[in-house]
Amino acid sequence: MTTFIIQPGGCLHGSLPVPGDKSISHRAIMLAALAEGASTIDGFLEGADCLATRHAFAAMGVTIESTGQGQMRIHGVGLHGLRASSVPLDMGNAGTAMRLLAGLLAGQPFSSTLIGDASLSRRPMRRVTEPLALMGAKITTTEAGTAPLQIHGGQALHGIDYALPVASAQIKSSLLLAGLYAQGTTSITEPAPTRDHTERMLQAFGYPLEHSTGQVRLSGGGRLNPTAIRIPADISSAAFFLVGASIAEGSEICLPAVGINPTRIGVINILRQMGADIQLDHPRWAGYEPIADIRVRSAPLQGIVIPEDQVPLAIDEFPALFIAAACAQGETRLTGAAELRVKESDRIQVMADGLRRLGIVAEPTADGMIIQGGGLQGGTIDSHGDHRIAMAFAMAGLRAAQPITINDCANVATSFPNFARLAEQAGLAIEVQP
Ligand code: S3P
Repeated sequence: MTTFIIQPGGCLHGSLPVPGDKSISHRAIMLAALAEGASTIDGFLEGADCLATRHAFAAMGVTIESTGQGQMRIHGVGLHGLRASSVPLDMGNAGTAMRLLAGLLAGQPFSSTLIGDASLSRRPMRRVTEPLALMGAKITTTEAGTAPLQIHGGQALHGIDYALPVASAQIKSSLLLAGLYAQGTTSITEPAPTRDHTERMLQAFGYPLEHSTGQVRLSGGGRLNPTAIRIPADISSAAFFLVGASIAEGSEICLPAVGINPTRIGVINILRQMGADIQLDHPRWAGYEPIADIRVRSAPLQGIVIPEDQVPLAIDEFPALFIAAACAQGETRLTGAAELRVKESDRIQVMADGLRRLGIVAEPTADGMIIQGGGLQGGTIDSHGDHRIAMAFAMAGLRAAQPITINDCANVATSFPNFARLAEQAGLAIEVQP
């Protein structure tokens, strides 16, 4: 039961290297494991979620050597070289790992069991098992449609044309990975653009696919060529510092080599619309992913109506953005974000409860929140074991009048193991109690 205690005030300074991108780290392990030969990865996020993916592939017979901090060599076994694990594959807190692996494992000749922690075991899995069943997969869930997932191997998969009912990169990616094993073409249409890391990384491994806005198609039966992957710093982790530096007067920070994939930069677009001073320096490429050094200076923020088209592009950043809204002048309205209710926690309810504890007027709605900017008091927050809730409220301390205590913070290690150290180095008065 790790607790964060934040003393009020301060500002953020310095160059802050945030760790590697979680979404891209999962995909790098998966595709490197399926390539024909040895690939290298640099900038891998050594957080619990991605380590669960690493352990799963090791359990399926893939040799993965650590060659340095965030660096590894993966001896890919080819699309048909995985072996059955002798134990259930434990995905911990990682929704991405479970949903993507469901698709990948549906195409194997052997059966697998996927399990997760209490939070992951509550999250909806039919959103992947139903379309996978349309492809010929046989996967059983609990009656509630949750993990454990029993994936029955040896099924012949075939491609489908599928229109995603929700804008979800996890569903899209799960079907694309199953599509590698399917006869014919798998074609996916999305209601709004979602993160396209799977598509970009398949291209990096030389797998042919057609990719245009809102649509992706690939055919089974190809092969993945080994390659060298460099993983950008995670914009979702950078988001806490984007908000912290924006709200704490006198701040100026630089976040080097952060991913600025257009499907991920909703947080920058939204903060800029609120008045934030964010500059993208030295734009360049890390393989198929665009990156830049992000410079942030504090600025007065205004409440806004958040454009719905930005929601999928900022889906993991709303805990941090709600803190920005609480520190802005006037009202901020979010709609079209019902997906937030089925993340690691119900992020609409948990954030509204926490903001109210700190004296902010926050009204949760079915698909969003209405927040009146105001003065933050101190208080005790329950993060419900959600890493992003914990880190968002830690940043609120920069503008609070009294200390903030945040309970149940151990899961910060799923995505940002050195968060407290880096935040303290930047100027946040944070104490971690085990
Ligand atoms: C992810 C996609 C998003 C995001 C999650 C990571 C991914 O989920 O919330 O943290 O890596 O594909 P959805 O695509 O289900 O919205």
